[in-house]
Amino acid sequence: MEAVEIADGIYWVGALDWNCRSFHGFATPRGTSYNAYLLLDERNVLIDSVKAPFMEEMMARVRSVIDPREIDLIVSNHAEGDHASGLPMLQELTGAEVLASKRGVEALALNYGRLRMREVADMEELRIGRRTLRFIETPMVHWPESMFTYVVGDGVLFSMDAFGQHYCTSQRFDDQMDPGQLLEEAATYYANIVLPFGAQVKRAYEKVKGLPLRLLAPSHGVLWRAHIEEIVQAYLGWAEGRTEERVLIIYDTMWGSTERMALAMAEGVRSQGVPVVVMRLTDTDRSMVMREVLRSRVIAVGSCTMNNGMYPTVADITTYMMGLRPKGRKGAVFGSYGWGGGASKAIHESLESAGLELPYPDLEIRFAPMGEGVDRCVEYGATIAKSIKS
Ligand code: FEO
Repeated sequence: MEAVEIADGIYWVGALDWNCRSFHGFATPRGTSYNAYLLLDERNVLIDSVKAPFMEEMMARVRSVIDPREIDLIVSNHAEGDHASGLPMLQELTGAEVLASKRGVEALALNYGRLRMREVADMEELRIGRRTLRFIETPMVHWPESMFTYVVGDGVLFSMDAFGQHYCTSQRFDDQMDPGQLLEEAATYYANIVLPFGAQVKRAYEKVKGLPLRLLAPSHGVLWRAHIEEIVQAYLGWAEGRTEERVLIIYDTMWGSTERMALAMAEGVRSQGVPVVVMRLTDTDRSMVMREVLRSRVIAVGSCTMNNGMYPTVADITTYMMGLRPKGRKGAVFGSYGWGGGASKAIHESLESAGLELPYPDLEIRFAPMGEGVDRCVEYGATIAKSIKS
């Protein structure tokens, strides 16, 4: 296990989790990485750590450069377990003091027990030799205690979860990757982790804009050096709720009636020249749905009625969306029912709680859509498409 030098005297010493397929409920078909960074100077500094089961891999990479006992300081930008659960072992091996924000110290103590720690203040600078580190608090990106660490002079920003991707690869830099695939992974990450915190992303941007940036080094995935401006602009667009003229139809179905409604609606959207994506929830992971939600101007959610409520997979995604709050988008509700309804009302309430505007009347069909019922679904899709066409 070797370290990778990413700038003069700065090494990536993280761990590759090739087989991670679920990150607290978020499907990660391409695995992930936990990025830690070693800075060699008069005082050697480790930026973040890795998930505890991956400590041996990280330590082997550190040992390929220096004896771990030569690490003087550990900066913990974020207390979540994927970056900090290795800290107790790391402190035992190195004896190094942990630096974190005030709330970081609190969270680390409550999560991992006794650690030797010191609080750093927002915008505090620390000289470690020829380099100076600046600690920049970025609350809610991703947790209240989170911060970035900027290396003054080198132009390296350790941005923790921000700009990350759940993407395990042997390459370390953006320009070694397929740019479309990389942006898609960054978007999926944003949609499932950062989406509720658009205002906080904009505040974090205000604190770092204007800083010379040569390397943007997140805690997951590859580092940005060739496309820094593109990923920063993408983040600002997502933070502002920028969407495309595009409709997403998600649904589930027991006997195919709601599915027929979804497909007829898609025909209606398509008839107006507006792109549409259809996803059946039984067959689609919620994280893939959220990636489409991020782009789409309208989210149409359909369910058959089951036990006077939503089908369980629809309840799952609407609950997930209530947490991620994709506001600034329009919602539409549809579904088939048999003897008694209930699903549409429940979806309607959930989408309102998720922050969606619901300008279209709910579309319900009793039992199977046939003839005129199918026509109503096509017309419903066309109406939605026309309402967002510029
Ligand atoms: Fe990668 Fe919020 O932890």
